[in-house]
Amino acid sequence: MAERAGRLEGKVAVVTGGASGIGRATVLCMAAEGARLVVADLNGAGAEAVAGEARAAGGEAISVRTDVGEEADIARMIAAALDTFGQIDVLHNNAAVTSAELLAGDAAIEDLDTELWDLTMRVNLRGPMLGVKHALPPMLARGRGSIVNTSSTAGFVGDGVYGAYGASKGGVNAFTAYVATMYGKRGIRCNAVAPGLVATPNAREHFDPALLEIYESNHLTPTLGTPDEVARVVAFLASDEASFVTGQVIKVDGGLLSHFPTWAQIHRPTA
Ligand SMILES: NC(=O)c1ccc[n+]([C@@H]2O[C@H](COP(=O)([O-])OP(=O)(O)OC[C@H]3O[C@@H](n4cnc5c(N)ncnc54)[C@H](O)[C@@H]3O)[C@@H](O)[C@H]2O)c1
Repeated sequence: MAERAGRLEGKVAVVTGGASGIGRATVLCMAAEGARLVVADLNGAGAEAVAGEARAAGGEAISVRTDVGEEADIARMIAAALDTFGQIDVLHNNAAVTSAELLAGDAAIEDLDTELWDLTMRVNLRGPMLGVKHALPPMLARGRGSIVNTSSTAGFVGDGVYGAYGASKGGVNAFTAYVATMYGKRGIRCNAVAPGLVATPNAREHFDPALLEIYESNHLTPTLGTPDEVARVVAFLASDEASFVTGQVIKVDGGLLSHFPTWAQIHRPTA
């Protein structure tokens, strides 16, 4: 839970992919900071369960089953925020293709199923674009709004797998800068967070333990990240405390991309 309650008092926030992992943690963190929440997810029951958790903790929250790649769903999601709470201050575009089954196919490019490429772009990149497209009119009407996209360290560097995923996140980084540039003078800020490996239940269940160990040793922090550690940065960017921060992709990666994972493996003081 958040350490400083009230940073989002009076604000209405929409969180996509809010049914689990980082999205769920962000919903709960923002609710603790005083925001009223719309929890959107393809998993409607999961979204409602998280909205219920926020309400049980004393917050106000509704859920909307939403496929972020579907424009009619996004329009419905924004309409639900306006109908229920009368305004929208924050949009957190967080949903992405994270299923282990699908990501398993995101490997050798010469064998890549182009439908998987299209699905990845549809959810990870078209989704945030649709969210911004539909959240902008009510935000611009009030001359204020904060958009926070979820990117990834995979949007900055290459790796042995996940070329489609990484390309989609690189697109998120560029889109973030464009939205910030186009709408900053009209009161809209747009930033992104780029998490390193966050040990969500999904990651713990599906990642090979050997791979988790490689990740852990290359994060400079003692452990991998937690969903709440990302959520707190999202809540900060969403809040007025970040009023002079826009167009940024903030790495929330335990220092993963700040070093060469070579000599550091050998010459590093351990506990
Ligand atoms: N966990 C990590 O290590 C990590 C690292 C870097 C970036 N990220 C990013 O963080 C974000 C959240 O990931 P997570 O690890 O919490 O994953 P997660 O699997 O716990 O949550 C993703 C949520 O998105 C939802 N979703 C999937 N497709 C959707 C669609 N079409 N419409 C609406 N909702 C949809 C899922 O139902 C799920 O609830 C993603 O953007 C992911 O790319 C995660």
